[in-house]
Amino acid sequence: MEIITYPHPTLRHKSKPIKRVDARLREIVREMFELMYEAKGVGLAANQVDLPFRLFVTNLEADLEKGEEMVFINPILSMPKGTEENEEGCLSLPGLYGNVVRPKKVRVNAYNLQGEEINADIEGLFSRVVQHETDHLDGVLFIDRMTDSAKIDIEGELDEFETEFNSRRETGGIPAAAAIAARLNEWEEKYC
Ligand code: NI
Repeated sequence: MEIITYPHPTLRHKSKPIKRVDARLREIVREMFELMYEAKGVGLAANQVDLPFRLFVTNLEADLEKGEEMVFINPILSMPKGTEENEEGCLSLPGLYGNVVRPKKVRVNAYNLQGEEINADIEGLFSRVVQHETDHLDGVLFIDRMTDSAKIDIEGELDEFETEFNSRRETGGIPAAAAIAARLNEWEEKYC
């Protein structure tokens, strides 16, 4: 398992809700936390590790020894309030940062790995991370939400990601689109 980077097609996959949790899925979640810590991230969505699940993990301290690990399964956001602009980055676009305007507060409803409900009104960094990760599950990246003028500033960097990805694909480092889709479909049949 590894973190995939832009413009890998799975990052544009709209995830389906998870219907079952088993030992394998719990192992996957553990591995997601480990990859997130290695990359010093505060959140990681399943499609960032090439899996089609409606699930993401967070730890606002980005550190195994600190903070609180949370797993969000089938999250639903509602009751957005206010707006706030802040800088974001993404483990699937390493080194790229940009300002994004989002609702300041949201309500999140989800389940954790134990099947317990999560119901919380959140704000600040937590709210931003949960919104960013929920976007991932819908195939949305933070660059999609940047203003048009901010997007112009990052065009060159996006081109570099695309060139790098295409060369990896040509040298066999990335499977063909049909193979990626077939693999996602297999996982969906098992869990969604
Ligand atoms: Ni991200």
